[in-house]
Amino acid sequence: MIALVLALLAQAPVPSPAPIQTQPAKEIFEKHCTLCHGADGRSQTKKGKQYKAPDFTTAKWQRTTTDDEIADAITNGVPKTKMKGFREKLSPEQIRTLIPYLRAFGKK
Ligand code: HEC
Repeated sequence: MIALVLALLAQAPVPSPAPIQTQPAKEIFEKHCTLCHGADGRSQTKKGKQYKAPDFTTAKWQRTTTDDEIADAITNGVPKTKMKGFREKLSPEQIRTLIPYLRAFGKK
């Protein structure tokens, strides 16, 4: 009997993984970041220009900024600038999903 159950289980289709409960990065970015960084990541918004936010689409920014620096800037902010930390607003998981989103700006 047990052998039969095991045999059936072995043949059962692999259950699809539970949906991951993280918000898409796009939503997080549009809610919290576009005011300064713009939907296109170029930071050409009024605030972005005023505060001198970086253009995420440039090869130079992509090359000189590590994933750790991105995570740190989002989590803790950049001292003495208008880039504030989001540790109170975003979970580490949400912050991690933003890294590839910012990287994608460099691939356009
Ligand atoms: C109030 C405006 C503002 C908002 C909102 C904002 N930023 Fe920034 N951000 C800045 C400015 C200004 C800088 C440049 C700081 C500096 O001079 O190094 C910056 C820099 C950065 C950097 C670069 C840090 C580095 O080391 O080059 C990253 C990454 C970043 N922001 C991501 C985000 C993300 C992701 C969000 C949304 C969760 C966000 N920012 C929201 C203004 C903002």
